[in-house]
Amino acid sequence: MPAGDLDLPGNFRWLIAGVTGSGKSYFTGFICEELRRQRRRFIVLDTKKDNLRGLADLRDVHEVKILPGKAYNWYRALSKDFLIMYPSDRTTTDELMEKYEMLLEILYSNDRNLVIVIEEAHHLASQWKLDPIVELLVREGRGKGLSVIFTTQRIQDFSKLVWSQCDRTYIFKWFIPQDINYISRMIPEFENINRQLQKHDVLEYNHQTGEWRIIKAHEIKRITPHYG
Ligand SMILES: Nc1ncnc2c1ncn2[C@@H]1O[C@H](COP(=O)(O)OP(=O)(O)O)[C@@H](O)[C@H]1O
Ligand SMILES: [Mg+2]
Repeated sequence: MPAGDLDLPGNFRWLIAGVTGSGKSYFTGFICEELRRQRRRFIVLDTKKDNLRGLADLRDVHEVKILPGKAYNWYRALSKDFLIMYPSDRTTTDELMEKYEMLLEILYSNDRNLVIVIEEAHHLASQWKLDPIVELLVREGRGKGLSVIFTTQRIQDFSKLVWSQCDRTYIFKWFIPQDINYISRMIPEFENINRQLQKHDVLEYNHQTGEWRIIKAHEIKRITPHYG
């Protein structure tokens, strides 16, 4: 698939879901490359060092390593058009999420056109604990020109409220019957489609129209390296 075949609406909320190793980060990187090509601003809030850093090979794509206990001038970082944030080896998930929460607050009140990628979003948007700023972002982000891409490998832990606000789901093959059943509540034909999915293929499901298609693994071609 030429990257241009992936249509990127002006404003969107997407969920990318799949088990570890299914290809979420690879596909997310593919989307970011297309955003960069179209000069549409993005910020990635990553949870692992090597997930998406390869994107920084592109001109104008900057990276910021989040160190434990360090204070950041977020406004300076946020003046960049294309940004990848990732934790150092010593940064705990709790501290990282606290920083990302703060960042989301700033982004929300900043109101510029931007795509926000939240990796392992179940940390900030779980079934049991939904961060208020994430809820605001999915409910009100549209009017502010803020689009969001959530990724998760823990589909049953991910906030159903947030998922129900998503216009599309990109989902890889699942193996555990309980997961497949669970997903079928949001994507009625999933059990059948799941059988057709091969390694790294992704189902694109439109929740507004019920339309879907399978994007084959070989159609997803990165131009930057993927270290994940
Ligand atoms: N479409 C694809 N074509 C070829 N290799 C892929 C594709 N998607 C993922 N991979 C490979 O599969 C591995 C896992 O992908 P990754 O995106 O890191 O998984 P996840 O983020 O879901 O854990 C990586 O080594 C990646 O290079
Ligand atoms: Mg990943």
